[in-house]
Amino acid sequence: MISFRTEHASVTRIQADVVTCFISEDERNYKQQIASLKQHFPSLLPAFNAGTFTGKFQETITLFPSERTFTLLLVGLGKSEKLSIERIRKAAATAAKTANSLMGKSLALIVPDPATISSECFESDVYTISVALAEGSGLSLYKFNKYLTGENGGKISIKQIILVAGRADGLRDVKNAVAFAATVIEATCFARDLANAPPNEIYPETLAQNAKQAGRKNRISVTILDEKRIQRLKMGGVLAVAKGSEKPPRFIIMEYNKKRNTSTIVLVGKGVTFDSGGISIKPAAGMSEMKMDMAGAAAVIATMQAVAKLKLPLHVVGLVPAVENLLSGRAMKPGDIITHLNGKTSEVDNTDAEGRLILADALSYASRYKPEIVIDLATLTGHVVVTLGHFATGMLGNDQATINKLNEAGERTYERVWQLPMFDEYEKLNKSDVADVKNSGGRAAGTITAAFFLKQFIGEYKWVHLDIAGTAILAEPSDYIPKGGSGVGVRLLVDFLRHFKR
Ligand code: BES
Ligand code: MN
Ligand code: ZN
Repeated sequence: MISFRTEHASVTRIQADVVTCFISEDERNYKQQIASLKQHFPSLLPAFNAGTFTGKFQETITLFPSERTFTLLLVGLGKSEKLSIERIRKAAATAAKTANSLMGKSLALIVPDPATISSECFESDVYTISVALAEGSGLSLYKFNKYLTGENGGKISIKQIILVAGRADGLRDVKNAVAFAATVIEATCFARDLANAPPNEIYPETLAQNAKQAGRKNRISVTILDEKRIQRLKMGGVLAVAKGSEKPPRFIIMEYNKKRNTSTIVLVGKGVTFDSGGISIKPAAGMSEMKMDMAGAAAVIATMQAVAKLKLPLHVVGLVPAVENLLSGRAMKPGDIITHLNGKTSEVDNTDAEGRLILADALSYASRYKPEIVIDLATLTGHVVVTLGHFATGMLGNDQATINKLNEAGERTYERVWQLPMFDEYEKLNKSDVADVKNSGGRAAGTITAAFFLKQFIGEYKWVHLDIAGTAILAEPSDYIPKGGSGVGVRLLVDFLRHFKR
């Protein structure tokens, strides 16, 4: 785990193995910053005069001033008209990865002065810039290395990141920013760990244990319903999907801040700890990815942790139906009809459309809390990957104001969401001759028909469904997101909840 520290110091006084200075490509900012560095480090004059470093976005140069023992790292911010908070996250990720490859143990990031990097195109403040620097650097140093032994180690050398306020009056904002970011980074990495963990480590019972432990540490009350209680409640979808596996299902309930006079928001996460497809089995190639079919659950559990740590003034409930979708002589079959918690029936057309079957029960269960809003996160359809690729989460729901708020949170965090339509005409695609609804809607508009299935089970509340199949599981790493489990949803939800006003 990486620790964060903050201070106000002049560049020559910083105590760290690698000290990073962010420099924009704009002439005024570039000249001003280089001039000040020349003054502090005369030994670097020849290097600066050579002018090889120009401040292009994510350009780096590593310098060794004889005046100090630290390595000075310059990272380009690019042109001011293209500057954004996301570019600052990415530049911080470049700094962290470079420092890590230099085998540094501590990394200082000098927080750029908003006055000197702002323009007509980019306006920000010390707090927001500092959150971005912490997130970009902290999140980029994640590696799932728990099962790598000896030589294969894959250890991260950076242990501490120091955010340096350039001006004394900015230190308070930097401190607050880092306190917030550290919580969000920890939660995101927790979600990544849960998703990346192999399916012989994380199955319904152990996923529940992880939720329980996170609850104990953070004063969240956690109740785990076992198979008996799930049967007594008549959660037909959870039971049907779980039948094919030796591992019994669990229904995880996390509740934070059980107070009366505050808004109740329920978060629901799909917790399929492995999705083989069941009798409608998936092809072998890439099937191991389906250990991450609980990424929605991971995001919900980790968000609960962050919400409690940040002491947000809301009543937040996390619900996770956890199952393993396997095939055996006891597995559910195409053609089966399920009766769900709310009494509605569904026809199993395809056992690989299992996520909606368990979410149906969880969305019905959510009504018990009389919530204002329910948001569900699920790696629900392959179709959303075809529609939006890996750069946006599919979003559907019944309340445009909440959808708009999530959209704003998505822009701020860069965990972007994109709304898909819920036109009435799509609804009939899930029609069944023998049950109230069918669990597959055919080849067309698979993400939308999945949402229409869920719509059958929602109660009297505002509802938003987030299909994270494309954004939660990545085959390629990017700036501060590793390949594998991305931890998507945590920063989005925390941001949404922080800005929530009734
Ligand atoms: N877990 C999958 C969806 C998925 C696909 C997640 C790729 C991540 C990456 C889900 O349970 C599933 O199999 N959905 C089917 C539904 C279909 C049978 C109606 C799909 O998308 O093909
Ligand atoms: Mn499936
Ligand atoms: Zn699935």
